[in-house]
Amino acid sequence: MNKVFSIAIDGPSGAGKSTIAKKLANELDIMYLDTGALFRAVAYQALKLKVDPNDLEAVTEFIPEVELEINFVNKEQRVSINEKDVTDFIRTEEVSIAASDISVHPIIRNFILEKERELASKESFVLDGRDIGTVVLPKAEVKIFLSASPEIRAKRRYKDLEKQSDDEVEYQQVLADILKRDKQDSSRKTAPTKKAKDAVFLDSSNLTLAETLAQVKKIVKEKLLKNQGCYENDK
Ligand code: DC
Repeated sequence: MNKVFSIAIDGPSGAGKSTIAKKLANELDIMYLDTGALFRAVAYQALKLKVDPNDLEAVTEFIPEVELEINFVNKEQRVSINEKDVTDFIRTEEVSIAASDISVHPIIRNFILEKERELASKESFVLDGRDIGTVVLPKAEVKIFLSASPEIRAKRRYKDLEKQSDDEVEYQQVLADILKRDKQDSSRKTAPTKKAKDAVFLDSSNLTLAETLAQVKKIVKEKLLKNQGCYENDK
């Protein structure tokens, strides 16, 4: 592979984007960027400083004080805010909701967009997010929109949360949170969750992880072979 290229995997929460994107990046031996983690890190810091993620004025005052750094340790992404690594604290439901809330503001989106573009200009990445194919990298070589029904996504998220947390989790609550985030992420004015015109739509509702990955790899191979120099013949 001799050219920097980008693979955008967009879609709603819980569609399996991050697992697929990580595996794909690994197989292609390129980098993986979880863009949701950047919004989560900023949201985590806002919560910590008691800044209301819905309050534009408060968020506007807060953001110049935020230094967001993305590092890769053995290709594993770590996110730091003001030199403190927050990677291990950003996966709670509270941060999920705050990330969706804070990501509505254009000032936040522009702040993160700059970091995403800078990284993607230097090295080949698989990026997962909501607006990678539409706004961040409209010229990405491959664009996939990965989705699944809200019930299936809630079931997957519920299983993950059950494994991760000692607290009682309720499926109905997980589904309600997913529906709330879907609505907010896809109806916001700036860069909503949306399939780019030239993205391939993939519904993973009735596919296993292995089947989804196989379909994604097929799409990637076809697209990259068209972009000469992006793909080795034996992959
Ligand atoms: O993918 P995730 O669940 O970690 O993302 C958390 C929130 O961040 C999501 O609800 C909306 C926001 N987000 C975004 O607006 N744009 C992205 N590219 C990635 C995430």
